[in-house]
Amino acid sequence: MIILAIESSCDETSIAILENKKLLAHTIASQIDIHKPFGGVVPEIASRHHEKIILSLIEKTLHEASLNISAIDIFAVTHGPGLLGSLLVGLVTAKALALMYKKPLIGINHIEGHLLSALFEHDISFPFLGLIISGGHCILYEVKDFGNYSTLGSTLDDAPGEAFDKVARLLNLGYPGGPIVEKRAREGTVDLRFPIPMKDDPSYNFSFSGLKTCVVNYLKKEASNPTDALINNIAYSFQKSLIESLCIKSFRASQEKNIHCLVVTGGVASNNTLRERFIHEGKKLTVDVYFPSKILCTDNAAMIGHVAYEKARRNLFDPLTIDACANLKL
Ligand code: KG4
Ligand code: ZN
Repeated sequence: MIILAIESSCDETSIAILENKKLLAHTIASQIDIHKPFGGVVPEIASRHHEKIILSLIEKTLHEASLNISAIDIFAVTHGPGLLGSLLVGLVTAKALALMYKKPLIGINHIEGHLLSALFEHDISFPFLGLIISGGHCILYEVKDFGNYSTLGSTLDDAPGEAFDKVARLLNLGYPGGPIVEKRAREGTVDLRFPIPMKDDPSYNFSFSGLKTCVVNYLKKEASNPTDALINNIAYSFQKSLIESLCIKSFRASQEKNIHCLVVTGGVASNNTLRERFIHEGKKLTVDVYFPSKILCTDNAAMIGHVAYEKARRNLFDPLTIDACANLKL
């Protein structure tokens, strides 16, 4: 079973070709440099750029896999959630190819791709807890089986990546904020003791806009023009509180649900300090903590192809009338 998977839900165009579960070729074209001057993703520009490069990226990926398009058995594509214009580019391309080559189509939920991405590389058995932390999402799931997921909690306001990006903007560090804030945090020496969001809240929900407001208020009160050393300390203290908040809720869920396996994924899961903190806590509480490799943490088509393989095995195909849905739920 050879699958060609397309991901274009936000600002990465990505194509993967899989033979069953084996990745034959994988390309990711990031638009970060295009959106950088705007300090965030501009939806109109994102969709135009997907449209500009998607066919040549498919050709390049087929070339890497040494395959002709006629060898593809199934076309899979992210159909939500995400930016509608961006999703439509991938979906229309996949539909056209499926129609032209008379092959089945499978629409994939982007969140399901993230949620199961660690299973691609690690031998993980159900049930496990899945924490998705990215620029647009912050959701803690109980993953009971393939296709059987329940949401334990989610963010009430900003996603963690969004908080990193906003704080980076406040500190004039550029876009995307996560990697720069992480780098500056490593140089921080003083803990400014920002509160840990939702620390004593009994639900599994998260909230990060208050932490961002702490940074705003701190800058207003203490330093409108912070020194490099103070920026490092703010980055360190902000990141520490954010990670603690994610850690407290995830491990409390693991203890209360008696599930000793936790998978953390999404762009923010590339943060090394966060990885170390979660692994340390996991060892303490005998919870196995898994992170997909960094390339599979951010948006990619390999994770879409992987879910497509699982769906195809179960004969879960979609009609050519399938829609793109910006708010698609899992
Ligand atoms: O999963 P992703 O590539 O795209 C979606 O949002 O779906 O995640 C991008 C987000 C951005 O907000 C970025 O600042 C954040 O992930 N990010 C990080 C790191 N690398 C990327 N946040 C914290 N630390 C990092 N090292
Ligand atoms: Zn994503």
